[in-house]
Amino acid sequence: MSGRLTIVGLGPGNPEQTTPEVTRAIAGASDFYGYAPYLDRLSLRPGQIRHASDNREELDRSAAALNRACEGGDVCVVSGGDPGVFAMAAAICEAVENGPDAWRQVEITVLPGITAMLAVAARIGAPLGHDFCAISLSDNLKPWELIEKRLAAAAEAGFVMAFYNPISRARPWQLGKAFDCLRTVLPVDTVVVFGRAAGRPDERIEITDLAAADPAKADMATCIIVGSPETRSISRPGLPPLVYTPRFAKEASR
Ligand SMILES: C[S@@+](CC[C@H](N)C(=O)[O-])C[C@H]1O[C@@H](n2cnc3c(N)ncnc32)[C@H](O)[C@@H]1O
Repeated sequence: MSGRLTIVGLGPGNPEQTTPEVTRAIAGASDFYGYAPYLDRLSLRPGQIRHASDNREELDRSAAALNRACEGGDVCVVSGGDPGVFAMAAAICEAVENGPDAWRQVEITVLPGITAMLAVAARIGAPLGHDFCAISLSDNLKPWELIEKRLAAAAEAGFVMAFYNPISRARPWQLGKAFDCLRTVLPVDTVVVFGRAAGRPDERIEITDLAAADPAKADMATCIIVGSPETRSISRPGLPPLVYTPRFAKEASR
């Protein structure tokens, strides 16, 4: 007997930014798998079971959740933000691809959430108004050389970039190296936004430029947006600046 497995994204932290669809799926599920701080955000009823695990245990967590679904559980796997962006949906797919046949019979649903870069962008204007990309700066699952190659290629191609996983205790130098790499390609007055804990009570949003971008301003809860050469910051008297990337490329004929 196979149950169901729903992979949900809670959004960046503000309960109002969790979709009604996700809230409904949580209300109906029996078993919850996820990183403990994400499970802490749920208000579960008696009888709904938490299975918390550590941050780096995605494949073990996926296996446990799929096994529980195979036993008939109505399983919910919980991610912050969107579950498909550097999160659990890909880990579950990877487990299904490499796991026992029974896991292929589990009904899997992915319910989207508001990802960090969208929450940060919305706080300051429209920095993602033209072409952009998202890059994880974590070199746990890919070599640093590949990250530098992608950074340079994205910057040269004129993409705005959103950096996830910018820094951690185990990865203290990568963000500084990324800024150094970008300074060789982009103008030093390129807009840089440090968006920390967007949507949470301890939110901090700071707008600076590439010359002054200081890795010490970031932590694990920060998503950094690096503009393209077209991205502007409009100052406004008595109000925070508005950062946006125009919808048209300067090469466009208008
Ligand atoms: C493992 S990734 C998970 C991303 C998540 N699935 C999402 O869609 O936002 C964790 C990274 O997301 C970013 N992040 C998550 N929540 C955030 C928030 N509320 N504000 C800013 N950045 C956040 C940070 O870069 C953090 O290091």
